[in-house]
Amino acid sequence: MKERVIIDCDTGIDDALALVLALSRPELDIVGITTVAGNVDVENTTRNTCNVVHLLGRDDIRIAKGEPKPLEREPLRASGVHGVTGLRGYTFDSDWKENLLDIHAVEFMKRLLEESDEKTTIIAIGPVTNVAKLLIEHPEVKDRIRRIVFMGTSYHCGNPTPVSTFNVLVDPEAFRKVIFSGVEFVACPLEVTKTATIEPDEVERLDAMGTPVARFAASIIRGYGITKIGADEKIDTANEEVISENRLKAAKESNEVTMHDPATIAYVIDPSLFTTAKYYCDVECKGELTTGFTLIDKNDYYKKEDDERNLTLMESIDRPRFIDLFLDSVRRYG
Ligand code: RIB
Ligand code: CA
Repeated sequence: MKERVIIDCDTGIDDALALVLALSRPELDIVGITTVAGNVDVENTTRNTCNVVHLLGRDDIRIAKGEPKPLEREPLRASGVHGVTGLRGYTFDSDWKENLLDIHAVEFMKRLLEESDEKTTIIAIGPVTNVAKLLIEHPEVKDRIRRIVFMGTSYHCGNPTPVSTFNVLVDPEAFRKVIFSGVEFVACPLEVTKTATIEPDEVERLDAMGTPVARFAASIIRGYGITKIGADEKIDTANEEVISENRLKAAKESNEVTMHDPATIAYVIDPSLFTTAKYYCDVECKGELTTGFTLIDKNDYYKKEDDERNLTLMESIDRPRFIDLFLDSVRRYG
């Protein structure tokens, strides 16, 4: 049975790879995609999303632009990881805007939830600013959400800070609104995604496919992160999308890419790749050092009842089967 899905994303490199996976799969009925500021500004996350969806041949999927900044805070960006435009390593010949609606992402989400008797899953692979605004402005649609599947949280590591993950750190107030909303909340934490890396030899299998989508995926994977050699080269930000030879060489040799967002999508496609457990979760919003820290009560310190355990946490992933799923998804585009 297909799962009715909205994908909310801050399309940078791993979001784009998540779209490659999601848009090829029969298990997902993707009724809409919404964009939010995160890795880069919302103009670029929206532009990237529209161009990637068009490259994947899915002009049937409508897209709506969302929030340009967090509920209360100034924006944080991750352009060092994803590049100035968000898709370092690849430049589209032109921009495709035909699928872009002129309504706000939150309004689009509301309409999608109301138009069907079937509940809809929201897969949130960026900061949850749009999702929080939906719950604040339209509480009446809450019961139409089947579940929220989110990339983020951690319990003993963090990125970029030692204790918080980007999608929570950007908008912890939005995250708190969502995890206490009463909607089923499933998270793919950094402890899982950091084991879901794609290695240089697996990226070479993309090269061997020789298709436009495989070339796109391999190009942005090699543009991800700050390669070791890249750290000392002078990055010409005006042309940063064209990876320098030494950065490309370094990426081909050593750049393992953490597939944060594709791993999250994979949970909805094939949950048998994961183990999960339920815990009580809250988030630090005022910490001088710990803002964005997700408190996950693994030892039941707070003695919460089952119905107060508001987080279903993924705890392991079968990496080989996940990578096979991803590579197979690329192959499906022919
Ligand atoms: O921490 C990684 C997450 O933050 C990913 O979703 C990445 O795309 C960024 O949004
Ligand atoms: Ca993301």
